[in-house]
Amino acid sequence: MAKIPEHVLVDYERLKDELNQHNHSYYVLDDPSVPDSEYDRQMRLLQDLEAQYPSLTTADSPSQRVGGEALSSFDQVRHDVPMLSLDNAFSDEELVDFDRKVKDRLNYSAQKESPEIEFACEPKLDGAAVSLLYRDGLLVRGATRGDGTVGEDITANVRTINSIPIKLVGDNIPSLLEVRGEIYLPRAGFDALNTKAIAAGEKAFVNPRNAAAGSLRQLDSKITASRPLEMCAYSVGQFEADITPDTHLNMLVALGRWGFKINEHVEVVSGIAACEDYYQRMAERRDNLAYDIDGIVYKVNDLKLQERLGFVAKAPRWAIARKFPAQEEMTKLLDVEFQVGRTGAVTPVARLEPVFVGGVTVSNATLHNGDEIKRLGICIGDTVIIRRAGDVIPKIAKVVLEKRPADAREIVFPDRCPVCESSVKRAEGEAVARCSGGLFCGAQIKQAIKHFASRKAMDIDGLGDKLVDLLVDKNAIFSVADLYDLKAEQLIGLERLAEKSATNLVAAIDASKKTTLAKFFFSLGIREVGETTGQTLANNFGSLDAVIEADAETLLEVDDIGPIVARHIVNFFRNPDNLSIIQALREAGVQWPDIDQNAQASQPLKGQTWVLTGGMEVMSRAEAKDRLQDLGAKVAGSVSAKTAQVVAGPGAGSKLSKAQKLEVPVMDEAEFIEFLSRV
Ligand code: IVH
Repeated sequence: MAKIPEHVLVDYERLKDELNQHNHSYYVLDDPSVPDSEYDRQMRLLQDLEAQYPSLTTADSPSQRVGGEALSSFDQVRHDVPMLSLDNAFSDEELVDFDRKVKDRLNYSAQKESPEIEFACEPKLDGAAVSLLYRDGLLVRGATRGDGTVGEDITANVRTINSIPIKLVGDNIPSLLEVRGEIYLPRAGFDALNTKAIAAGEKAFVNPRNAAAGSLRQLDSKITASRPLEMCAYSVGQFEADITPDTHLNMLVALGRWGFKINEHVEVVSGIAACEDYYQRMAERRDNLAYDIDGIVYKVNDLKLQERLGFVAKAPRWAIARKFPAQEEMTKLLDVEFQVGRTGAVTPVARLEPVFVGGVTVSNATLHNGDEIKRLGICIGDTVIIRRAGDVIPKIAKVVLEKRPADAREIVFPDRCPVCESSVKRAEGEAVARCSGGLFCGAQIKQAIKHFASRKAMDIDGLGDKLVDLLVDKNAIFSVADLYDLKAEQLIGLERLAEKSATNLVAAIDASKKTTLAKFFFSLGIREVGETTGQTLANNFGSLDAVIEADAETLLEVDDIGPIVARHIVNFFRNPDNLSIIQALREAGVQWPDIDQNAQASQPLKGQTWVLTGGMEVMSRAEAKDRLQDLGAKVAGSVSAKTAQVVAGPGAGSKLSKAQKLEVPVMDEAEFIEFLSRV
């Protein structure tokens, strides 16, 4: 036998130690020290070493066990049928290889016209595995996987989960049934849980999986009950019944009939090429699912074939998991910059060593505010875990303290604005710190002008962010009103602006003078006054002067205007600088038709909330929204029981299904256009 080189032995011991440590953090403490992707990489290295030098492998190698040890505080449960893990395929080639091995074992390859294998394809849910035991249809025990052989008795906790039946329903109920499945937290539940934790000054969970696992291992089941956990069944352990389903899919269908939740994306396909196609389709939908999935599981559908294929060490030969690109990665915090927004909010932005995560390269992430920096306990130079799942905004989920370098620097929140050097103040009870420079602050002026010019506001074509920066930096403009004094000659000298674009821009600025009252309110950039509130103000007050004159009490009489928004509106119009800018805008010719208050009664959709979802083919979505708002409707982004009407175009997804569930009326674009012609 070849002698094992010394450096290999050293590497092997180090890898084992590190992996065991990660395993402990992950399975025992529910607090991962590294992202899965890093764990997978190290595990691969270890497995490669063990394949190369088989005599290395010891019983205590992390490659030889399925999970962590059971906590002593729960009773132990022995799994009569071991709870196995799954082998992973990291590429299409490995998947093809899996298919070939399955066919070889079944002697299919020897046949002339080798038939394709039927596979059940399922999302790999990212939660915690559970075993549920039913005797004569009654739930008698719930257990965690533990190390695959011995888990923890969590019966009291699983009983609190609504999607787990306490008593089975339907026909042919088995005398003994052990259901296996995944307990997980949908993303919305996870976000709500973390918002609550942060508000209570507690540590946030890194991801929904850890939150689900942590929730299951609560000694107090009331805590588990307060967590919006769900459970999806994906296989069966012990099973004694008169009728045994012949395929995995039929077993899932039976489980569904007995009362279990089954994943809605399960599909049976023929051959491995169709498995790859399923993977692509799910990869596209991944971001839009209500819960995290970290890959796809393929299972030989025929249960007799499964039996013939059997198991190796810790995993079945009839199933494999194909992982998606990781949603968590490790990278370095290079620096923190402080950006000043339109309302003066000073936001710390993390500059990161670029990292590919959740399908995109991330090099910046917001740190929100000073509290977030404290909560994360983050320093410049730290190694951090970046998470990007479903939502588009990547987050810093955690600092890897073990990797903090000796020269890590504390992040100091500035007490002076980085742009205008005015003092930075934090109002009582607010998380956000703001520059007090107002319109003296170049950053606030720039943001205010960019907002004013944006598409949904005054819609000035050709006035991009870079040009606004340039105009302000060169002292060509100091406020939005100055835009209307700009001359083409003045602009031509500016970098990269040719004569034609300068003339076009002046024309676009001129064209923007004709606007609507609602858009004008929105353009002003009053705090908390978005498009919808702009429309509400226009509809309810009819003119700019009526809003300028309104006090907080009058504003509060309007539905949808709360005390905070009312205060911001009053403060805005009490500020003489703002009033003089408005005056200058009016003098420059900015105008809108006032809304006849008597005509308000004829707004047939007043008080209704509409939702637009899916694609539109004839009219643009913006146009549809404008029309609805003109008719007095509020256009919202999500469906609730209060939604009056949903307009659903091709490709409509979760909003449409929610509308159907809540029995909210739905029309398509053709019906919508017809409706508009009638009102
Ligand atoms: S089947 C013997 N199906 O992935 C087959 N597992 O590494 C055992 N998982 O611990 C598992 N979704 O908790 C299966 N649709 C699915 C799954 C799934 C998630 C988890 C499961 C297991 C781990 C395997």
